[in-house]
Amino acid sequence: MSATRRAVCPGSFDPITMGHVDVLVRAAALYDEVVVAVLHNPAKSGTFTVEERIGFIESSLPESVSARVRVEAFAGRLLVDVCRDVGAEVIVKGLRGGTDFAYELPMALMNRHLTGVETVFLPGAPEFEHVSSSLVKEVARFGGDVAGLVPDIVHAALAERLATP
Ligand code: PNS
Repeated sequence: MSATRRAVCPGSFDPITMGHVDVLVRAAALYDEVVVAVLHNPAKSGTFTVEERIGFIESSLPESVSARVRVEAFAGRLLVDVCRDVGAEVIVKGLRGGTDFAYELPMALMNRHLTGVETVFLPGAPEFEHVSSSLVKEVARFGGDVAGLVPDIVHAALAERLATP
């Protein structure tokens, strides 16, 4: 019997976007198990609490993959230690373009330097190339419409948390 092939998809997920959902679903098609690692800094309060972020991720995953994807929070940890603890051989990240690659490459090289863990990059879906957690928050804050760019549950939460009255 072959060993379970497990991947870690790390991020802040404050909040999850449809770009993230696309990458998580595609990672689940490539690996037996996916651990979505919500990495956060306890000293900094995000827009959403870690519990809210986890809830949004769990309820945004299609049923077809949810049995093989689990979501866990980690604070003040190196990603390589998270990978070691959960028994993951690979990190999976989405790339929206060259700017993402320039940001991600040194981290991928550093992570491989530290423990040998590899990073696999998936090309982000073109329809979400302009989508980031920070940009959807900014647009939502000033009343812009981000429907379709984030899961419905996040769309509602952004309106409630951020929209200027
Ligand atoms: O969603 P983000 O904010 O782009 O995610 C970045 C994240 C959390 C994946 C990255 O900052 C990270 O891996 N942090 C964990 C700490 C760590 O291992 N730092 C060294 C990276 S080489």
